[in-house]
Amino acid sequence: MTREIFLLQLGTGGVGRALVAQVQAQRALLAERYGFTLHYLALVDRGGAVHTGQALDDQTIQTALVVKESRQPLAALAGGRALDDWRTLLPTSACIIIDVTAAAGMETGLAEAVAAGHRVVLANKRPLTGTLTDFTRLTARSATRYEATVGAGLPVIATLQTLLDSGDTLSRIEASMSGTLGYLCSALEDGQSLSAAVGTARSRGWTEPDPRDDLSGADVTRKALILARTSGLNWELSAVPSEPWFPSELADITVDAFMERTPEMDRHYQELVAQARANNRRLRYVATVTPEGASVGLRELPPEHPLAALRGTDNLFSFTTGRYSEQPLVVRGPGAGVEVTAAGVFGDIVATARELTGDR
Ligand SMILES: NC(=O)c1ccc[n+]([C@@H]2O[C@H](COP(=O)([O-])OP(=O)(O)OC[C@H]3O[C@@H](n4cnc5c(N)ncnc54)[C@H](OP(=O)(O)O)[C@@H]3O)[C@@H](O)[C@H]2O)c1
Repeated sequence: MTREIFLLQLGTGGVGRALVAQVQAQRALLAERYGFTLHYLALVDRGGAVHTGQALDDQTIQTALVVKESRQPLAALAGGRALDDWRTLLPTSACIIIDVTAAAGMETGLAEAVAAGHRVVLANKRPLTGTLTDFTRLTARSATRYEATVGAGLPVIATLQTLLDSGDTLSRIEASMSGTLGYLCSALEDGQSLSAAVGTARSRGWTEPDPRDDLSGADVTRKALILARTSGLNWELSAVPSEPWFPSELADITVDAFMERTPEMDRHYQELVAQARANNRRLRYVATVTPEGASVGLRELPPEHPLAALRGTDNLFSFTTGRYSEQPLVVRGPGAGVEVTAAGVFGDIVATARELTGDR
């Protein structure tokens, strides 16, 4: 007999839709392997939900995917409805809430759900990067898993937790964890101007619609804080200063005006690249976390540094610890993309379902 595990998914964007498709494709195999069946109880978007109070059938799920693919709201679907508060959909027995939104302000509802015995899986970084109190409420007793928040599908959080759980001590994490900023570093190294590289990255959809959301370093800062907090460092976001790529006078203008003025930064970056080359060093946008502090910014690295070999949009995480002191433990690979991110979330769902069913 298989146990039923109910999923309540917040977010049906790129990652959310890829996740639904992966879960649907893998359900039968997981039931056979682990003795539980995953059922969608609800799919939620910014204004509505598909929810009947029972497991959604395959046809309804398929239609919801098609509706969201064509950018319509779930409320427009037969069986869909407008929704003010997803918490009203929570069942009485423990379910798994999946946050694959990028929304702010989710932490209160998620923490309440955890307190009521539900489990949480996140691709959304924001619930973990608010106050330390919220982080602790969410992650106490491993009620929340969040592998996909850092490095997408790469086993970054799992690696760090395994090192620390087994008694290793952290000396330093160094990471390049923005595909966009990694691409810019490679392009600069190849002789492109910053303005041309930003223009190319934006036209290929590798930046946020406003490239300053990437160039501010804020996303990297949030990931660095998640790594720090996972390491037991009880810091607030202000403890991880980041260096934006653009001067403050370009911070508050329109996106179009910003794009027009990016050539103003070209000379500065040409000089930085030339200086790094003269020093036989490579320029990388690096997040560093040590027990003493953290930083996020452009750094000159010697050619033998693991991050110096990185090219393009790949992420790389280098863990130097008591046991990995001579050579760091390195995790490297694509750190973005809807399929790999959804797979990271899915891995957390399976681990949580196995716990809920007493399989581990
Ligand atoms: N894409 C990647 O490669 C990648 C990699 C690592 C991590 N992530 C993280 O994964 C998350 C999802 O990324 P994505 O690319 O799928 O984003 P997306 O395509 O923009 O989708 C976001 C989804 O969240 C929904 N949403 C927004 N606010 C909501 C709210 N308050 N309540 C319920 N639903 C809400 C949106 O609803 P509507 O459909 O109504 O707009 C949309 O369905 C983000 O946190 C992102 O940082 C993404």
